[in-house]
Amino acid sequence: MSKDVFIHHRPQWKSHIGFLLAAIGSAIGLGNIWRFPYLCYKNGGGAFLISYFTALLIVGIPLMILEIGLGHKMKGSAPASMAVVSKKWEWLGWWQVIFVMFGIIMYYSVVISWCLNYFFLSFNAGWTDNPNAFFFKQFLMLSDSPFNLRDFRMPILFSLLGVWGMTWLIVFGGVQKGLERANKIFMPLLFVLTAVIVLWSIRLPGAKEGIMLYLRPDFPRLREPGVWIDAFSQIFFTLSLGFGIMIAYASYLPKKSQIVKDSFVICIVNCLYSLFAGLGVFSVLGYMAGTSGKDISEVVSDSIGLAFVAYPKAISLLPHFSKLFGVMFFATLVIAGLSSAISILEAFTSAIIDKFHYPRKVVVSVLSVIGFLGSIIFTTHAGLYWLDIVDHFLTQYGLVLAGILECIAVGWIFKTKRLREHINHFSDWKLNKWWDVSIRFICPLVLIILFISSLVQELAKPYGGYSWVAIIMIGRDWLIYTLFFAIIVAAHPWKVEPKDRIINE
Ligand code: ALA
Repeated sequence: MSKDVFIHHRPQWKSHIGFLLAAIGSAIGLGNIWRFPYLCYKNGGGAFLISYFTALLIVGIPLMILEIGLGHKMKGSAPASMAVVSKKWEWLGWWQVIFVMFGIIMYYSVVISWCLNYFFLSFNAGWTDNPNAFFFKQFLMLSDSPFNLRDFRMPILFSLLGVWGMTWLIVFGGVQKGLERANKIFMPLLFVLTAVIVLWSIRLPGAKEGIMLYLRPDFPRLREPGVWIDAFSQIFFTLSLGFGIMIAYASYLPKKSQIVKDSFVICIVNCLYSLFAGLGVFSVLGYMAGTSGKDISEVVSDSIGLAFVAYPKAISLLPHFSKLFGVMFFATLVIAGLSSAISILEAFTSAIIDKFHYPRKVVVSVLSVIGFLGSIIFTTHAGLYWLDIVDHFLTQYGLVLAGILECIAVGWIFKTKRLREHINHFSDWKLNKWWDVSIRFICPLVLIILFISSLVQELAKPYGGYSWVAIIMIGRDWLIYTLFFAIIVAAHPWKVEPKDRIINE
């Protein structure tokens, strides 16, 4: 294929709103409805909101501009863009899309399949009157250790097949007919469902107590490094930063694009959505506490418990329309999850197409089969342990490290000034030198401090009370293997050097 033909065939979003909805769809996911409220609860309610919005300002918005600007300038996936920054940094782009494809999406799709199971269970409140025992003992049939895998959980495996089938179908359709079209349906539906759930929840008796807990800051908590570590890693996860997704999505934008304005819109809509969804979750917790006569601190056990234990319990307590509420809640989670899962698959798909020029349909089909097979480990009786460990390592270390390295590569090797000039050339909202300072100094410095604090905490005590063997073999090694894989793929020659594509334009 000639170079020109390849440039000519790079897909493009049909409309600006199509791009925005897809990027917001990627950002809004299980992280907003499930992970965020729990982190908020765990880290002192309003105190967490302060650290979360600080993380948004210091790292979230500047990095979003960097990723969207980079993808737009280089017109390529993360590895293709990094290869233009410097040939020596191509591995970073590969590492991002590889640990996301061979890590995050594998357990993420399993959580969506739990939601899909719970969606069907909601029709007859099938979680019995003890949702905690139901979730761990009947549904997950959790074993006693990460290495005691036992068997697969068939209901989870079947719905996983459905989740991968839907993800495959959408990404198979391509940028306009797949991603854009799906998000144009998913996002309005998601907003309407969320609005109904939240407005319903805040009117429940006891909701006010829950909301007070959510919004009232427990200031002394801000002295704990853990609160800041959780806030910053959540910002990466929730904004899909460090995944290589935003770089790929921006590469499908037309030349005249509002990079700065769009980056702000994506960040703000995503974080306001989290804030809004949190109102609903905390209202339900307040209601539950009131109905069961317990303190709010007793109604939540852990992050996973929040969606699959506390919520079903609350739903069973509702006097009217409880089934409808359950159906809507789990439908919201499935939709939010799917719109993020497709973006993860797309980040890797676009990288493979860029480098090897294989046809999209073949790439997406092969990747979906591999993705499904890789996800199976998380459907075993020890799946929850694996999910917890892999999520902890990939989010807290993988994404944050990818963010630090992106800042170094663009800030110091490529030079922020060059990217800023490109962005400003097309944007109505102009970046000033503060953005350079932020990418070159502030972001990497803050992230390095947090990374080191995480490491110190990690070494003091194994995460989640798991054995060191499990932590090393499942968590640390997952990152190391994906890094090796990235270095090998980066060493392979390109069909058309990404640099030539840019120069040819
Ligand atoms: N950004 C996605 C989420 O929050 C991955 O779930």
